[in-house]
Amino acid sequence: MKGVILAGGSGTRLQPVTLATNKHLFPVYDKPVIYYAIEKLFAAGIDKIMIVTSGEHIGDFVKLLGSGQHFKRPQGGQVQIVYAIQNEPNGVAYGLYIAKEYVGTEDCALFLGDNIFEDEIESHIKSFSGGARVFLKKVPDPERFGVATVDSSGKVTAIEEKPMKPASDLAVTGLYLYDATVFDKMLDQQKSARGEYEITYLNNKYIAEGTLDAVMLEKEWFDVGTFDSLLDAGEYMRTKKRKSKQ
Ligand code: DAU
Repeated sequence: MKGVILAGGSGTRLQPVTLATNKHLFPVYDKPVIYYAIEKLFAAGIDKIMIVTSGEHIGDFVKLLGSGQHFKRPQGGQVQIVYAIQNEPNGVAYGLYIAKEYVGTEDCALFLGDNIFEDEIESHIKSFSGGARVFLKKVPDPERFGVATVDSSGKVTAIEEKPMKPASDLAVTGLYLYDATVFDKMLDQQKSARGEYEITYLNNKYIAEGTLDAVMLEKEWFDVGTFDSLLDAGEYMRTKKRKSKQ
């Protein structure tokens, strides 16, 4: 399975800092936001990762990450990072589309680079066998996210992007596993009312096909797209690191 990390976007909720730099380069305690995504995918056995970002910031990512030489396995081997440019921040689904040739006919793990997961994901990646898989987390502020409607058997029946009146408190987090049909599902996609190619559109296509399943996350999850969540994630990582030293 290939990994695709999105690290573009406009970071409007983090202005004025993002007027000069990219949010995925900000520190969360002792390392940049994007390190968490790379480490999570690498720990799950994904060695080949494409980072999609803007032309304006790609040089900073290359400086920071190179070909992936900072991420090595004890038994030898490193993560293999390649880069692609998204010219405009026109949506998460479009960011994935840029990785089409790179992914080819393999399955892929799409990771939104501003997300940090504490759950292990390896078992869910290893057991993936086609269709789509999303990862849900109970949150107090579902209106900030894609929100899943789940039936009594735990099956996702619909996902709505940032609803004013959320149908549940289950956020669809920024990790998605897809088979290669995801790219065909984009062909008739139009921009949403907010002017983006939404990932929720593709997930709803898999739901309509009956091939989307969901994993419930149990541990901490952060979307560090706001100053508060960035600070919360930093505090959490600091406490975790201190405890591990005791
Ligand atoms: O964090 C989970 C949420 O992420 C999901 O619940 C939503 O369904 C999904 O739409 C997305 O919502 P956000 O409002 O948080 O998306 P944001 O614009 O912050 O972008 C998410 C990541 O993708 C972030 O790391 C930046 C990157 N991105 C975003 C856009 C719009 C790109 O690389 N290119 C883009 O064009």
